[in-house]
Amino acid sequence: ESYLRQAWQMVHDIPMVCAFSYDWDRIDNFQSRPDDIVIATYPKSGTTWVSEIVDMILNDGDPVKCKRDAIFNKVPMLEFAVPGKMPAGTEQLARMPSPRVVKTHLPVHLLPTSFWDHGCKVIYVARNAKDVAVSFYHFDLMNKLHPHPGPWEKYIETYMAGRVAFGSWYDHVKSWWEKRKGHPILYLFYEDLKEDPKREIEKVMHFLGKDLTQQALDSIVHHTSFEVMKENPNTNYRMTPVTVMDHNVSPFMRKGIAGDWKNHFTVAQNERFDEDYERKMADTTLRFRTEI
Ligand code: PPS
Repeated sequence: ESYLRQAWQMVHDIPMVCAFSYDWDRIDNFQSRPDDIVIATYPKSGTTWVSEIVDMILNDGDPVKCKRDAIFNKVPMLEFAVPGKMPAGTEQLARMPSPRVVKTHLPVHLLPTSFWDHGCKVIYVARNAKDVAVSFYHFDLMNKLHPHPGPWEKYIETYMAGRVAFGSWYDHVKSWWEKRKGHPILYLFYEDLKEDPKREIEKVMHFLGKDLTQQALDSIVHHTSFEVMKENPNTNYRMTPVTVMDHNVSPFMRKGIAGDWKNHFTVAQNERFDEDYERKMADTTLRFRTEI
């Protein structure tokens, strides 16, 4: 068995929490290229948003060039493999010209070492734990590759225990935070992007070594706003087969706000979550905005 599969089972203890058939050998042997750009996230943290931002930066803010294909083809997901339904991420990536932009939800220790060996640039996006839980819950309702999440009050416990696809949110955000010491990792927050998208887009631009005009930057701010991306068929995931995602249950582009958890957590759930959170996050310097 591949080391990735073993490591996955160690963190997960339930082998196939999510119905993806992980293509471990291909992932194990994946060959990065030095100019690959990796977008790493825990699910539902702003992956699609930052993927479109990076694609727009690489294309100098030109919306026409960025409409060339769907986001899941422009920025393939490394570990995605659902035979017979959609092409595997590793196959898509192998065919792509450089510079490639690679999406991954893998916990940091499962990223193929080739990316570290080549010193590839990594953009990590984190979102606060409660909004991720709410977004993930709705995603699990509409995503037919994931098990049905069950009732919210049960799901919140499953999520806190890390028994969801890609494991524990707490371990994910903390271990990627540690990894940035000594590696070219830009660590972003969804809430900062909401607060001042232009400021954060400029950070990404500098990190990628690009220098765009104000006009190009303004174009990126506009075309990557929630409202525009929700209507853009290339970014709203409506091109995925209905057997994979059912947008009638809940759209992929659902609300796109910070703080929606307040509409879902009861007072008792919030207290329990906070208490558990403090314990799990006591050993890190990573801080999320508490006012959200
Ligand atoms: S995935 O499936 O893990 O790749 O999902 P991901 O893209 O990480 O997260 C989806 C959530 O991000 C919201 N989203 C946005 N918010 C603000 N602005 C823009 N442009 C944007 N694009 C996507 C999306 O609506 C999901 O969050 P929720 O809270 O469910 O609305």
